[in-house]
Amino acid sequence: MIDLDAYPAQVLYRIVEFARAIQENPSCFLDACKGKIMATLFYEPSTRTQMSFQTAMLRLGGQFIGFDNPSNSSVSKGESLKDTIRVVSGYADIIVMRNPREGAAKAAALYSQVPVINAGDGGHLHPTQTLTDVVTLYNKKGRLDHLTIGLCGDLMHGRTVHSLIKTMSRFPKNRFVLISTSELSVPRYIKDIMDSHGAAYEEVYALEEAISDLDVLYMTRIQKERFPTEEAYRAQSGVFVLDAKKLKKAKADLSILHPLPRVDEIAVDVDEDPRADYFDQAEYGVFARMALIQLMLEHSARRIPVPIRGTHTLPCANQKCVTGSEPYIPKCYFESGDMLVCEYCEDRQLI
Ligand code: NCD
Repeated sequence: MIDLDAYPAQVLYRIVEFARAIQENPSCFLDACKGKIMATLFYEPSTRTQMSFQTAMLRLGGQFIGFDNPSNSSVSKGESLKDTIRVVSGYADIIVMRNPREGAAKAAALYSQVPVINAGDGGHLHPTQTLTDVVTLYNKKGRLDHLTIGLCGDLMHGRTVHSLIKTMSRFPKNRFVLISTSELSVPRYIKDIMDSHGAAYEEVYALEEAISDLDVLYMTRIQKERFPTEEAYRAQSGVFVLDAKKLKKAKADLSILHPLPRVDEIAVDVDEDPRADYFDQAEYGVFARMALIQLMLEHSARRIPVPIRGTHTLPCANQKCVTGSEPYIPKCYFESGDMLVCEYCEDRQLI
């Protein structure tokens, strides 16, 4: 699962319901993945995503192998992504991968013999965090539509933000309030996606201005590791901080989410507020991933063809695209309206 786009809304509802069934009756699933092995290949730091996947597999009776520090693996000897994936897919039944390169999960799926789950590809996407967010919203708000969703912080580099907007704009009458500095606003292609679904959005520059209108507030940290310099990061940090004072203006049934880790964007005085749902959200992530792993192992043949829509062979203009560091990957752009879109990282160029 590279992007939740591949799953129609009714499949998402099925996963959400399945996650709830698992949460209500975990003992029924103790042997669901007995004899199965999951590989977790983390080329970037992770606490929740990695540990929740591993917990999910252990709770399903399966086991896991993998690395969380590529310098301890053959990657440090110069092994290509293709070779690592080809080899590991001979050991495991499913691969979960996080990589700093945008489009890396899609590229890995080209060379894998088993299903690949995207656990974050650079600043591009993070679909299993979105699955976690969707399960949380369904449990806290009772619906996935007709929601006014505020997203605050680093909307430019935040992959959780991109995946969440992509998915939630598919449900009817969701409206987005995008709260960031002008430098960290959402990428153009995410705005195009909201437009293509007819989802309303507005960009605002102050949290105080927006908060009273929101059903959901999705806070994010400024993604330090994606900035070219420490100064560039410092110029953007500390701008948006949610605290108990600002919350006074919010609805009584607001749901406050955060993919975590938190740095300073939510003051600790918010943690005890009944609207603070971010620690529950991290817990729901285990049930969401238990549901996803089972469904993927049940429904995937051993070799899964990866659809490549691209018809234009061009080098990608995005410096962070996986095609830049793994030169053997077929470089493809597909046509979408008057744009050419990179198959892997969704970089857009005018035709
Ligand atoms: C997020 C990520 O890695 O993108 N964390 C997570 O997976 N829960 C958010 C972040 O690092 O800010």
